[in-house]
Amino acid sequence: MSRAPEPAERLLFREASTLVERAYAPYSGFAVGAVVVGPSGRSHYGVNVESASYPAGLCAERAALAAMVAFGERSLRYVAVAAVDGKDCLPCGLCLQALAEFGDPAIVARMGGEVRVTLLRDLLTAPFAFGDGGPAGVRAGEAGR
Ligand code: THU
Repeated sequence: MSRAPEPAERLLFREASTLVERAYAPYSGFAVGAVVVGPSGRSHYGVNVESASYPAGLCAERAALAAMVAFGERSLRYVAVAAVDGKDCLPCGLCLQALAEFGDPAIVARMGGEVRVTLLRDLLTAPFAFGDGGPAGVRAGEAGR
């Protein structure tokens, strides 16, 4: 279900860790940085951005996803997520669903105190779809990556 990271995946996690200080999380104090990588291999960055109107806050993963799509890429290979003080942090359910739209990426994140790599489909086994078998991304992932 999860495995140890390759060196390149460790680097992605470290990149995500450097973003944590740019997060805007004055309400929860739980600062998060995320890096997503598409077909080009370029890193796209996101941090969580909270709001006094709490539900208006945005998670780091969806911020990074939006940066990737705005850049012109629509396929996810990697998502690295790091939280403040080296705390464990996997993408929330809402983010998993949003990420599933664009593939079945390897998620690089700290779990049980260790950086591990897990496929999105192992974290979100039944993404919502309009009754047609799943978001385009997950279907593409099943076809073989
Ligand atoms: N958060 C993220 O940015 N990513 C996650 O994977 C989990 C949670 C943010 C949302 C909120 O700003 C704070 O962390 C506490 O939930």
